[in-house]
Amino acid sequence: MNSILSFRVVPAMLLLMAAATAAGRERLSFNDGWRFHMGDPDGTTPQLQYDVRPPIRQSADGKVADARPDEAERVQAGAQPVLKPWILPSGNAFVRDPAKRAVRPAQEPQVDVPYVKAGFDDTAWQAVSLPHDWAIAGPFLASGPYGGMGRLKTWGPVWYRKQFALSAADNGKSVFLDIDGAMSHAMVWLNGRLVGGRPYGYNSFRLDLTPYLDKHGRNQLAIRLDNPAESARWYPGAGLYRNVWLTKTAPVHVGQWGTVVRTPLVTPASATVELAVTVDNDGAQEADVDVTTQVQALDAAGQPSGPVLAGTAPQRIRVAARASQAVQAAVQIAHPRLWGPPPAQQPHRYVATTIVRRDGRVLDRYETPFGIRTLRFDATQGLFVNGERVRIQGVNNHHDLGALGAAFNMRAAERQLDMLREMGVNAIRMSHNPPAPELLELTDRMGFLVIDEVFDSWERKKTPHDFHLLFPDWHEQDLRAMLRRDRNHPSIMLWSVGNEVGEQYTGEAGAALGNRLAAIAREEDTTRPLTNAMNYAKAEMPLPGTVDVIGLNYQGAGIRSLPGQFPAFHQRYPDKMIISTESASALSSRGEYQFPVPGTISGPVRPGVGGDPKTKQVSSYELFAADFGSSPDRSWSADDQNPYVAGEFVWTGFDYLGEPTPYYDARSSYSGIIDLAGFKKDRFYLYQSRWRPDLPMAHILPHWTWPERVGETTPVHVFTSGDEAELFVNGQSQGRRKMAPYEYRLRWDYVAYQPGEVAVVAYKDGKEWARDVVRTAQAPAALHAQADRTRIAADGKDLAFITVRIADAAGITSPRAAHAIRFTVSGAGELVATDNGDATSFTPFPSSERAAFNGLCLAIVRAKPGQKGPIMVRAEADGLQAALVTINP
Ligand code: GAL
Repeated sequence: MNSILSFRVVPAMLLLMAAATAAGRERLSFNDGWRFHMGDPDGTTPQLQYDVRPPIRQSADGKVADARPDEAERVQAGAQPVLKPWILPSGNAFVRDPAKRAVRPAQEPQVDVPYVKAGFDDTAWQAVSLPHDWAIAGPFLASGPYGGMGRLKTWGPVWYRKQFALSAADNGKSVFLDIDGAMSHAMVWLNGRLVGGRPYGYNSFRLDLTPYLDKHGRNQLAIRLDNPAESARWYPGAGLYRNVWLTKTAPVHVGQWGTVVRTPLVTPASATVELAVTVDNDGAQEADVDVTTQVQALDAAGQPSGPVLAGTAPQRIRVAARASQAVQAAVQIAHPRLWGPPPAQQPHRYVATTIVRRDGRVLDRYETPFGIRTLRFDATQGLFVNGERVRIQGVNNHHDLGALGAAFNMRAAERQLDMLREMGVNAIRMSHNPPAPELLELTDRMGFLVIDEVFDSWERKKTPHDFHLLFPDWHEQDLRAMLRRDRNHPSIMLWSVGNEVGEQYTGEAGAALGNRLAAIAREEDTTRPLTNAMNYAKAEMPLPGTVDVIGLNYQGAGIRSLPGQFPAFHQRYPDKMIISTESASALSSRGEYQFPVPGTISGPVRPGVGGDPKTKQVSSYELFAADFGSSPDRSWSADDQNPYVAGEFVWTGFDYLGEPTPYYDARSSYSGIIDLAGFKKDRFYLYQSRWRPDLPMAHILPHWTWPERVGETTPVHVFTSGDEAELFVNGQSQGRRKMAPYEYRLRWDYVAYQPGEVAVVAYKDGKEWARDVVRTAQAPAALHAQADRTRIAADGKDLAFITVRIADAAGITSPRAAHAIRFTVSGAGELVATDNGDATSFTPFPSSERAAFNGLCLAIVRAKPGQKGPIMVRAEADGLQAALVTINP
């Protein structure tokens, strides 16, 4: 992602850009003033299909997550008129071979739909602002095969309309619509004419509106989206769920994602920064322009700061009419401040500002943030960033933000990253699709390493209407688009071309496709290696030969009873680094503990063993996993016995909507280390104990409020960054235990429950290191509310996350309390959503009343834009003292 403004949502920067209008480029937020409507006008759907959709004969529900993908659905081409021929040309900039570019049909499509017309009265439609996820409000679909996609109806056609005017100053400019992601099958009309679109819901795309503009009057945009049912294995979200921009430029301007910054030589004394700039000329005359680029440092907030550190001399280029011309240059940065992941390194960044001038007049100004760093992928020692070894402590994350759905929100994403950092995470895999561009701005700024991944399926299908239907027409465009958008992000260390694709099973044919994708990716970027997450392909099969870094899902530690595959891959590919692109897939429900507790370290969830099919909750002893997965303990033991493994990406950091293995009647996953509401499960502390070995910590589980278990065996497990600990129940020692090699927790499996207090004293190298204590709660008495931040911006976007805890009179959390909590927000704010992290809860997210789940409940609040004064959030529940928090915008 090159254009700096796509990152900067900071008002100061927007002002700066407005002031820079004279310099040619304006990038305006296009998020406000939309009208939204569900459904097509009667009888018009057949004219509006992107392509023929094959019948749905199966559902994601009931299929094991690691099931073998099937043969593609055959699309009956020509069975009906479709709009695909008018949409395909929108991807032409990403098709390398000119002969393969789509040609727009000479005729306009036969579409007679009032919604696309300028005169249509949409005042009765719902007024919405973007990012907008129309499906997240629910209601949940309580029955039927909808668990896989989160029990929220995401499918069916919807429309968005917006009017905009241009001024006389815009005359002669190029005008683009930049959509960071639309779920899905977007088709865009301007003033009644079909401009183009993009079927893949996760990619950013640009449409050139210029030929369709009414330069003097009002312009009417109409966008139709049409998510298919059974199109995903998780909640895809729905709508214009990311930012949308209107970009105006002079006809001669830096092209879309038109800069490439590389740092091929880095020493402490100096870094070589290579810059390539592509200048587009949309005009009818050739143009001679001068291109210069200057480099400055970026501060921690992403603002240019300090002096210009280096610059290129003006380079004169001639850009033919309706053509592009690239120009290359290199500069030296003395004593570069490197980008690297904390805590050992800091994510320093720079910005390259490119200026295009004609006869001295500035035509365009384009900013490209970047970082200077070196990466080395070592097959025996793992990853080196700037020469220092960095063990990959990663998590997978889907794109939903829990109760907020897929609608991108900067603060919600930052909160997730803050929590992951607290746990010791230094890497994120964007499973299994390109993320919002702002998320990569955050990973750059905060210093997380990233795997950017493009597809969950290639030609073979996982669900009937998933990307496999688009793959033949769009894989090149969508892959190149991701690479071009994201190639300047220092946080991205690896590209992934797929996740558990069906082509793992098709031998040489699958590998040929893998090679084709790899070739495309390498044409776009040679500075990062490629991977492909494989849960089936074995070392001797052809597919692993197509990647640079071996990415294994679960296989490394061993799937089910199969032996671990790390050694076989290491032997077959002694020069390729190995990572677990997915590890663990451990399952649990926060605060749920089931008995008896097996003495094993890892097992699948079975009725009565880790899982309760009646409550659909999974025990939080953190010993249970998906059938193909492992507890963290088992997975680490495999890593540590194969020290060449560079690290892991846990499935998953946060619970996500959909894929509620093992209970598909639920709405959201059980695999998160942190639940859907953002509350830490016990597993959080298990990972923290390994990933932050220098942080003195100890964590006891379970809670200690078991009136029905007096005298019964109630195992106590302790997660600690120490190596030894002594446990006490009501002051009585239960013994001191030491962790043996390949053990990651301390357990006292035969404790007899007595109310009171469980305490642990942990040691490291024989010295006291950390303590924890858990006490029995008395009757619930009060609500306690705490906001993550008590000051937020009044921009209608910033959020406060308020945790409400039910506690007894002494303030001890009531660990199983499930009181209905009512939230009221007064003053200058409003309630956005509530949640409790319970995967089985079907209370719609916007509800102001929600039952607590195991003592906790969450409210998400925002300030009303522009309104002054405090925001009061009150939480009440029958029989409990109410709680109030005040937030100041
Ligand atoms: C993997 C898959 C993920 C998810 C996970 C569930 O096999 O790659 O997308 O389905 O299993 O545990």
